[in-house]
Amino acid sequence: MLEAGAKYGLANLSPLTVAFNRTIKRAMNKATTTTEAVMSRRSIRSFSDRPVPLEILQQVMETARWTPSGCNFQPWEGAILTGEPLRQLQEKMRNTPPQNPQEYSWSDPEVLPECKARLQQVGADMYAAMNIERGDKAARGDFMAQNIASFGAPAVLMVYFPRVMGPPQWSDVGMWLQTIMLLLREQGLDTCPQEFLSMYAKLIKDFLGVSDESHIFFCGIAIGYRDEEDPVNGFDRKREPLESKIQFLGFQ
Ligand SMILES: Cc1cc2nc3c(=O)[nH]c(=O)nc-3n(C[C@H](O)[C@H](O)[C@H](O)COP(=O)(O)O)c2cc1C
Repeated sequence: MLEAGAKYGLANLSPLTVAFNRTIKRAMNKATTTTEAVMSRRSIRSFSDRPVPLEILQQVMETARWTPSGCNFQPWEGAILTGEPLRQLQEKMRNTPPQNPQEYSWSDPEVLPECKARLQQVGADMYAAMNIERGDKAARGDFMAQNIASFGAPAVLMVYFPRVMGPPQWSDVGMWLQTIMLLLREQGLDTCPQEFLSMYAKLIKDFLGVSDESHIFFCGIAIGYRDEEDPVNGFDRKREPLESKIQFLGFQ
């Protein structure tokens, strides 16, 4: 059972999660339960060039409208690109240096040491899967730059919302994005959220006709079908144990 899980990067799981591994393997093609959708979603960094049908995207975005939001603000906005417009935008990003100042800080230098350690761990695991040495800055940089092409995903959702929105509404947008990513799993599709693209926030908004004055760009969501053979999609991801994060009080 674990062997099957390991192929998909599911080996390092709590005993509770290990019990789900068989269904998760089946769910790689299409999730049929919420648990399968949650457990088979992972950030995909190598996509096949199989196109993403518009009807599926419309259906998923229609359903995701039912995401909850504080005060029912529904702060999320976005654009989904494929084909020629996506190619043109990516070409512009490739020929433009990252903006300065940043749209927002997505890796705060003051971040907690344990968070820094988790970031380093995911980087180490991901580059090891690709046989890229720790000191090989050029190869790491080249891989990071593949964010511009959204790792070959045939469709990308660009996410933005009014600048007046505060932390509660950022969280609403996050819920909307997770809803979308899980619904896409149900359709056999995969994703990678990409805050990297915020380095080109102004360029992206300009391309989409979205006001930089009124709107902040959050992230892209790469959408497509995973390349199951590419080891970058199969490394072992880590999570903190439940007891270090959650208290259960008052239960018998
Ligand atoms: C809001 C957000 C932005 C992210 N931005 C990037 C990104 O720019 N590039 C990237 O390769 N991964 C990005 N990720 C993926 C995270 O690294 C990933 O979610 C984390 O390591 C956990 O792995 P998993 O998604 O495979 O479970 C992002 C994830 C989130 C939620």
